[in-house]
Amino acid sequence: MTKIAVIGAGVIGLTCAVKIKETYKDLDVVLISSEFSPNTTGDGSGGLWLPYLCGSTPYNLIEKWGAETYRFLYEQWKTGGYGVCMLPLYYFYRTKEKFHTPEWARMVFGYHELDSKELEHYSKLFSGKYTAGQTFTTFVCSPPTLLTHFLQRFEQANGKVLQAKLTSLQDPLLAQYDVVVNCSGLGARFLVPDDRVVPLRGQVLRVIAPWINQVVIDEEGGNYIIPNAQTVVLGGTSQKDFNTEVDPKDTDFILNGCKRIMPGLERAEIVKRWVGLRPSRDAVRLEPEEKNGKLYIHNYGHGGSGFTLFWGCGEEVLQILQTYLNKNHKLYINSKL
Ligand SMILES: Cc1cc2nc3c(=O)[nH]c(=O)nc-3n(C[C@H](O)[C@H](O)[C@H](O)COP(=O)(O)OP(=O)(O)OC[C@H]3O[C@@H](n4cnc5c(N)ncnc54)[C@H](O)[C@@H]3O)c2cc1C
Ligand SMILES: *[C@@H]1O[C@H](CO)[C@@H](O)[C@H](O)[C@H]1NC(C)=O
Ligand SMILES: *[C@@H]1O[C@H](CO)[C@@H](O)[C@H](O)[C@H]1NC(C)=O
Repeated sequence: MTKIAVIGAGVIGLTCAVKIKETYKDLDVVLISSEFSPNTTGDGSGGLWLPYLCGSTPYNLIEKWGAETYRFLYEQWKTGGYGVCMLPLYYFYRTKEKFHTPEWARMVFGYHELDSKELEHYSKLFSGKYTAGQTFTTFVCSPPTLLTHFLQRFEQANGKVLQAKLTSLQDPLLAQYDVVVNCSGLGARFLVPDDRVVPLRGQVLRVIAPWINQVVIDEEGGNYIIPNAQTVVLGGTSQKDFNTEVDPKDTDFILNGCKRIMPGLERAEIVKRWVGLRPSRDAVRLEPEEKNGKLYIHNYGHGGSGFTLFWGCGEEVLQILQTYLNKNHKLYINSKL
């Protein structure tokens, strides 16, 4: 009977583990990871649905994976799941030329490009000189809540969990598995290695500011404000850098920039300073590879969009697996699909 290992307990790996185990209840599925929540990249992230820093991943894929994830978050919001909030988002540009209508505009609720009167209004409200911008309804999850619940879902479906660090594709831990789903994030850089995966360092602050009820992004200024269920995330940096220490210079940049947009943040208590390395790649890698008599399904390099694409990417991994299992009947005679 087919044995499946999913590598990585970040949002990408957990989603695959849950989807596979809930679909193939009788198959042996193990989740192998060196880190678990609250120590994954996603734990400190903004949890915002917005295609962002995902290289030149084809638009049609961003739209497909993004739309499925958006719908999933919408369903969760409707039923009060995973701490998902629904919020208006305002995205501002200082240089008009940098603005273009994104392909995914047609699939989000309430997409609207700001006219000159609105831009004048928001420039005043948020103390900027904005010459273009857009707004739409988006969803923000509470990453640690979602990650913890996904792990519980996987364990409730009898999925096995193993904390271990794999050293390579040939790691003896993987010997017994027929299918390896590779969701190792930045770890992919070292595992094979794939040096197209690079860190994009993001520093953020979390503050208590329950009076903030919208997402505001100043694209060129580099600052963003993302309310979550309990705190507000203030950002942020994106540097090609492995340094995971909080840098006081970045803290100042974040605080000053965000206070310019919303002066009331002066009164907000800072509860966390955090750095994460986005697993950045020229394009998300999501594809099967048959090698050493195994099926590998790669699913990594989501950059700044892990929480924007996870559900759609998980769905695609499931489809790849289904196609493979249908082709290889002998491997899963015992599973009831
Ligand atoms: C500051 C910041 C803000 C962000 N905000 C947002 C946002 O608002 N919205 C959004 O969509 N995205 C956001 N992101 C991006 C998002 O966090 C990532 O895209 C996402 O977390 C990637 O998930 P992942 O599961 O691929 O990687 P990770 O969470 O890094 O998980 C990788 C997993 O693989 C495991 N692993 C790696 N190598 C090995 C190995 N050799 N052996 C065993 N296990 C291994 C790790 O232990 C880990 O569990 C943000 C990122 C940062 C840094
Ligand atoms: C997270 O990291 C801390 C510090 O290294 C460690 O003590 C803790 O056990 C880790 N948590 C999990 C769930 O692995
Ligand atoms: C995951 O993919 C990366 C990049 O191709 C590779 O280096 C690594 O060996 C893969 N890991 C596993 C366990 O398949």
